[in-house]
Amino acid sequence: MTHSVAIVTGAAGDIGRAIARRLGDDHDVVLLADIDSEAADKAAREIGDSTRFVPIACDVTDAKSVAELAAAAAARGVVRTLVNNAGAARAVSLHETTPEIWRADNALNLEAAFLCFRAVEDMLKESRGSVVNIASVNGMNVFGHPAYSVAKAGLLHLTRLIAVEYGKFGIRSNAVAPGTVRTQAWEARAAVNPQVFEEARRWYPLQRIVNPDDVANAVHFLAGSMAAAISGVCLPVDCGLTAGQAELARTFSQSSHY
Ligand SMILES: NC(=O)c1ccc[n+]([C@@H]2O[C@H](COP(=O)([O-])OP(=O)(O)OC[C@H]3O[C@@H](n4cnc5c(N)ncnc54)[C@H](O)[C@@H]3O)[C@@H](O)[C@H]2O)c1
Repeated sequence: MTHSVAIVTGAAGDIGRAIARRLGDDHDVVLLADIDSEAADKAAREIGDSTRFVPIACDVTDAKSVAELAAAAAARGVVRTLVNNAGAARAVSLHETTPEIWRADNALNLEAAFLCFRAVEDMLKESRGSVVNIASVNGMNVFGHPAYSVAKAGLLHLTRLIAVEYGKFGIRSNAVAPGTVRTQAWEARAAVNPQVFEEARRWYPLQRIVNPDDVANAVHFLAGSMAAAISGVCLPVDCGLTAGQAELARTFSQSSHY
């Protein structure tokens, strides 16, 4: 029988690793693709069984490297799930955004998802599989990081474009939009301000930030058969952030219930 393969890009990071581990529940093989090959090796070792969790060195912004990733997947089975998770933000204002930052953030957070999807689309047709794009609340509202946010907003539209054009092949396409997740991506900002997570927590209705397993559970749901009729959506995993802010509701209503 043909093995079902999941690809998780950026899988050496905290969110990617949690997603890879969770997708191992119902895929035969999970490829942990990351530009940092040492970190990908370490992540795969940490999760377990080296025949099922396979590290792959890949730069998702490079079409040749992505083609090699697709070939590595084809050698192990048929891709049923593609998770475009590799991403990074420059924490700058629009005024500070250079053309280089603009292009680099768009290449990694948007174009790479297009390259990866096109590289495995035939396998997704064969498996009637699905794509899950890891977007961000930054793609829905303005929370800083302009180039990254524009790319994530584009990624939400790419999610819908795939859903509409490829639905006839049984391919589903969905996105998850996490709020703040404490990962290595925050290291520099946490070093400047050790209170950064405490300060962020205040704006979240659930009064906590998101953890990598929260994101992984949502990806697992969207990639699985329980979501068989769900395509083209963005599922915020944001502890209520994009629903509104209690503090502002308290000011507007002057009610102590908020
Ligand atoms: N951490 C958060 O607060 C947060 C919030 C919303 C969305 N997200 C999204 O979640 C995803 C994962 O973020 P994270 O916080 O785990 O980041 P992270 O920095 O911990 O991990 C990202 C991983 O991507 C890899 N990577 C970078 N460039 C790559 C490339 N060109 N090719 C292949 N791999 C590459 C890195 O080596 C790293 O292992 C990203 O798409 C990010 O935008 C994160």
